[in-house]
Amino acid sequence: MTSPLLCAIDIGSSKIATICAVESKDGDELQVIGYNLIPSKGVRKGLIVDIDEATIVLEESIEKAERMSGHKINHAFVSVGGPHISSFNSHGIVAVANPQGEINEDDVMRAIEAARAISISNTREIIEVLPRDYIVDGQPGIKNPVGMSGVRLEVDTHIITASQTNIKNINRSLNDLGIENHGFIFSGLASAEAVLTETEKELGVVLVDIGGGKTDLCIYVEGSLAFSGSLAVGAKNITNDIAVGLRISLDSAEKVKLFLTKEAGKIKKKSEEINFSQLNLAENLSSISYKTLVEGIMSPRLEEIYKLIFEEIEKSGFGHNVPSGLVITGGGAQTVGMVDIGKKVLGLPIRIGVPENITGLTDEILSPPFASTVGLILYGKKNTITEKSNFKNFNRILKDFSFDSSFSKVKNFFKQFIP
Ligand SMILES: Nc1ncnc2c1ncn2[C@@H]1O[C@H](COP(=O)(O)OP(=O)(O)O)[C@@H](O)[C@H]1O
Ligand SMILES: [Mg+2]
Repeated sequence: MTSPLLCAIDIGSSKIATICAVESKDGDELQVIGYNLIPSKGVRKGLIVDIDEATIVLEESIEKAERMSGHKINHAFVSVGGPHISSFNSHGIVAVANPQGEINEDDVMRAIEAARAISISNTREIIEVLPRDYIVDGQPGIKNPVGMSGVRLEVDTHIITASQTNIKNINRSLNDLGIENHGFIFSGLASAEAVLTETEKELGVVLVDIGGGKTDLCIYVEGSLAFSGSLAVGAKNITNDIAVGLRISLDSAEKVKLFLTKEAGKIKKKSEEINFSQLNLAENLSSISYKTLVEGIMSPRLEEIYKLIFEEIEKSGFGHNVPSGLVITGGGAQTVGMVDIGKKVLGLPIRIGVPENITGLTDEILSPPFASTVGLILYGKKNTITEKSNFKNFNRILKDFSFDSSFSKVKNFFKQFIP
């Protein structure tokens, strides 16, 4: 039997990316066999604002990825992000069903259900329920309680919710295209999966994915996701400022910004002029000094983005638990000055996160803009039951499962093995 095709659709605020991968024969590696990206339409700051336009772009991206991979895509993991995302932490307590025996998977399920059974506004939908820590008879710090003995099982969970309208709109689009949604994954969480190390998560770290119209955040404390959120700013704001500052169109401003990233390494002195003549901009602009562009126009916006990130970290209450600092990713992380200004504003270590742990056709996609795209596939793999995932390594699966929106499916899967 060949390994199942894993597909993901990343609905970003700048681009829609579709990716297909298969597991290598030994099951250790994921190989990308096809992908596509196109500028998104009908999506603003992660929200579908025009369902027809969004469907057309989704269809195009899916078709192109199908052609590249030579496989029909009929299911996918789907990203959802933007300021309509919010999160909270919830606690669940249950009595262990058989206190003379061992804690079993059903007890764990019931504890998670108890944490999940919290009233939320009917305009919101839960997209993730992640167990952070289990507590058995008052003893915390347990990562997997199955097989332990105890009478009382508690769980701390992290719950991510999204706008129900947006979820419905994305599903309607996917339905029209004959794609079965295998689960929504918060795009910030997907990026975290692709770029963070286990050590960073253990020590405490903030993942910041700076997209076009949104910036997704995930804070990890003691190895578990503790906070998720998203800001309504992104790298497009920087493009806007360049357009206004230089009195050029948004298209030209975007070209100037990307050209700057490419040329910045060659700049010796801040007063140096950057020559844009090869860009053939519609406007009569052929050069500008590095200092004017970077310090005069772009830096104030970068500082503002970091101030908003700072406020979000403060709001989370985990500001003092992140010694690993920030790992920034997404296209916007590549902006000239992004790392240095962040260090200055926040006083924390910052590195750029590049997606890893995937092979195959990866020339273009092992770069920050694809952190969320690659992460969807990696996260999706953990949630997929393969022929190898049999009863023998049940505990491993149980630990790996994040009990996301496919919770009921997962539960049914477990039920098969429960006598
Ligand atoms: N090399 C680069 N230098 C600076 N900015 C970049 C670069 N590449 C992409 N960007 C910016 O990143 C943004 C898109 O980021 P991306 O992560 O693809 O967004 P999303 O996932 O929200 O669709 C755009 O505003 C783009 O200008
Ligand atoms: Mg993205």
